[in-house]
Amino acid sequence: METTQKKRILSMIQPTGTFTLGNYLGALKNFVRLQDDYECVYALADLHAITVRQEPAQLRKNTLEAYALLLAMGIDLEKSIFFIQSQVPEHSQLAWLLNCYTQFGELSRMTQFKDKSQKHADNINAGLFTYPCLMAADILLYQADYVPIGADQKQHLELARDVAERFNGIYSPTFTVPAPIIPKHGARVMSLQDPTKKMSKSDENVNGFIAVLDSPDVIMRKMKRAVTDSESQVRFAEGKDGVNNLMGIYSCITEKSMEEIEAEFAGKGYGDFKTAVGEAVVEELRPIQEKFQQLIADKAYLEQCYRENAPKAQAIASRTLSKVMKKIGYLR
Ligand code: TYM
Repeated sequence: METTQKKRILSMIQPTGTFTLGNYLGALKNFVRLQDDYECVYALADLHAITVRQEPAQLRKNTLEAYALLLAMGIDLEKSIFFIQSQVPEHSQLAWLLNCYTQFGELSRMTQFKDKSQKHADNINAGLFTYPCLMAADILLYQADYVPIGADQKQHLELARDVAERFNGIYSPTFTVPAPIIPKHGARVMSLQDPTKKMSKSDENVNGFIAVLDSPDVIMRKMKRAVTDSESQVRFAEGKDGVNNLMGIYSCITEKSMEEIEAEFAGKGYGDFKTAVGEAVVEELRPIQEKFQQLIADKAYLEQCYRENAPKAQAIASRTLSKVMKKIGYLR
């Protein structure tokens, strides 16, 4: 009997320091959820990380901690592959090839490049510019059907689709054209201090973001300080960016609809609402933090895991790369 093949998922995250509630609700929570229904491949994008200067010891530490943190969140190595990008050289190899099938104009339109080159004006390196080609390589190497991401990565995913279609058109079908999976709520968790800006770990104001490893006290304090408005009514509406953001966070965690949340807090002030959102976040993160502490204490186990997973990823990636090289015309 023929078995139905599961569709494949690929996604990655940069191991550049603490993960935020935005990373978690926008992407990582989905990584875990999708494992039962799909064949999932996840990785730490440490090659992407050096588009911004990294201190070597810190990069090593951040990468190991990120590996432990994703396992703590529930990435299950019995079900999924979870590796470190720099340990699978096919990513760099395909990225170069895809550079030559991507237009300067396309890369110039990437909003993240424009934002980051403003923020790091002293280091606008070529990697920052061609970063979407590496991301396309990450996805296309695994013939991924779906890519779980937050809204800020949608434009990069669209470029990966364009590059895949272009290559398939020039030669013959080679790459699966991937589709994004973007959550309804949580796709764009905003800063608690400026809810018109996305929540980001590089925010200079630490009160703007909640880190996944923040203690309960810190989470409650940051929540209480979150910017709202002068209306004092919990409802989802245009112009209420701060409240909308907190409602989005609460909805993501409790799976309640906006209407249910409005009903729950009818007649109550923002104080009660912020306490409830803070407590929901604390309880959501508590088991992850506990598991993280166990895992990070066992470096030998973590090393064994990432060492075992790189060749599993490579087995898939090398098949695609070899197909691509043959089509381009390289002697094999
Ligand atoms: P990165 O490391 O910046 O973020 C990882 C994931 O978290 C999501 N995210 C958010 N979601 C909601 N609200 C926020 N405030 C928020 N901040 C971040 C991001 O959308 C992302 O899904 N280029 C990618 C990493 C990458 C990748 C890939 C992703 C490299 N190769 C291949 C998918 C497939 C990045 O920098 O994400």
